[in-house]
Amino acid sequence: MTFVVTENCIKCKFTDCVDVCPVDCFHEGPNFLVIDPDECIDCTLCEPECPAEAIFAEDEVPEGQEIFIQLNADLAKNWPVISEVKDPLPEADDWNGKPNKIDLLEK
Ligand code: SF4
Ligand code: F3S
Repeated sequence: MTFVVTENCIKCKFTDCVDVCPVDCFHEGPNFLVIDPDECIDCTLCEPECPAEAIFAEDEVPEGQEIFIQLNADLAKNWPVISEVKDPLPEADDWNGKPNKIDLLEK
């Protein structure tokens, strides 16, 4: 099992999640974070930390968001590890909760 970052992280990137991960398995892209499924130890700590409620256990990913399971696995291979909190993206509060952000994902 792994945890998965889903659509509502896009254009928010609050990064509270990375502060609690004991194995540093978050990877950072331009406007989204992903979890490396090969490193996640399923500790559950990150899920309640995300202000955008974007993190789910793999078997609880909401309907329609299943594509993010594969996206996390694929993008984690290319993006660098992030282990320290940074400022959210400038318009994070405005984008929090907006639907259909997947087309805005920058790889
Ligand atoms: Fe890291 Fe635990 Fe979240 Fe997995 S469940 S990404 S190990 S904090
Ligand atoms: Fe993204 Fe939530 Fe982490 S918005 S960066 S998954 S705290």
